[in-house]
Amino acid sequence: MILVFGSVNIDLVARVAAIPRPGETVLSPSYQIVFGGKGANQAIAAARASLPHRVAMAARVGDDSFGRSARDNLVRNGVAADLVATGSEPTGCAFITVDEHGENAITVASGANTSLTEDQIRGFRIDASTIAVLQMEVPFSASLNVARQVRESGGRVIWNFAPAPPTFPAQDLSDLIDETDIFVVNEHEAITASERLGGTAGNFEEAGAFLSERGCICVVTAGARGAFAFHPDGQRERVEAKPIQPVDTTGAGDTFVGILASALDEALPLATALERACHGASLTCLAHGAQAGMPTRDQIGTA
Ligand code: RIB
Repeated sequence: MILVFGSVNIDLVARVAAIPRPGETVLSPSYQIVFGGKGANQAIAAARASLPHRVAMAARVGDDSFGRSARDNLVRNGVAADLVATGSEPTGCAFITVDEHGENAITVASGANTSLTEDQIRGFRIDASTIAVLQMEVPFSASLNVARQVRESGGRVIWNFAPAPPTFPAQDLSDLIDETDIFVVNEHEAITASERLGGTAGNFEEAGAFLSERGCICVVTAGARGAFAFHPDGQRERVEAKPIQPVDTTGAGDTFVGILASALDEALPLATALERACHGASLTCLAHGAQAGMPTRDQIGTA
């Protein structure tokens, strides 16, 4: 069973020719209100890729229409939402601009996500088959406690270091990696994390290798170049991405993480899990919004 502990947001998305620079104002003809949040995105990507009833989410939303519709959206997509609490703060909201190449810039107003605690998983039966999926949009101490509980029960932890905090103490990062089986980062996050731990990573490959020496498998997502896995014993794997013309890359990393968790939940080898995750992440980029293009199990191809 996959337990996603993380953020739920509503995304307000404006499409622009170019993402504004500091001090600049750009116009967009309209905007869309869609479902998002790294945690919710990963939960939905995992649920769409999995057999029924394999994914639960622990989260916190506001007592508002955004929160109610976000919870309904989880349920509609096959995610058990009994562990989604309602708080007095507003539901998290992300302000997203997407440029004509599909690249984005995101500001998250965290709202209710900031009050999520590990108490939220009290009703969940953790055991050796549990795969916890964590990110960086809810309080770190709560996520770390969840990771510890899951590992103490023999379960596994996939931790997506996104968004990489601009300041994050080396000791916290070290604790995080100590409680992580698979550490998922993009190229920039890999280098940031490596430098934070005293590595002299000139590129993401050096960074991935350095991070894996701490005892986790470090998976680096590298956009059009696919994904790379660095193992603690020095072994490396690479999966190539199929060429696509992206319209919106929002949620691609989340789709990758969700599908990776789903494949590992089915006890597939890491190489197969990485292939499915890469394929699914590229399909997501063909539709606007974080969740709209997330593929179903059939679309990923589970044969
Ligand atoms: O990874 C994409 C997500 O980041 C968006 O859905 C937004 O809510 C932010 O959390």
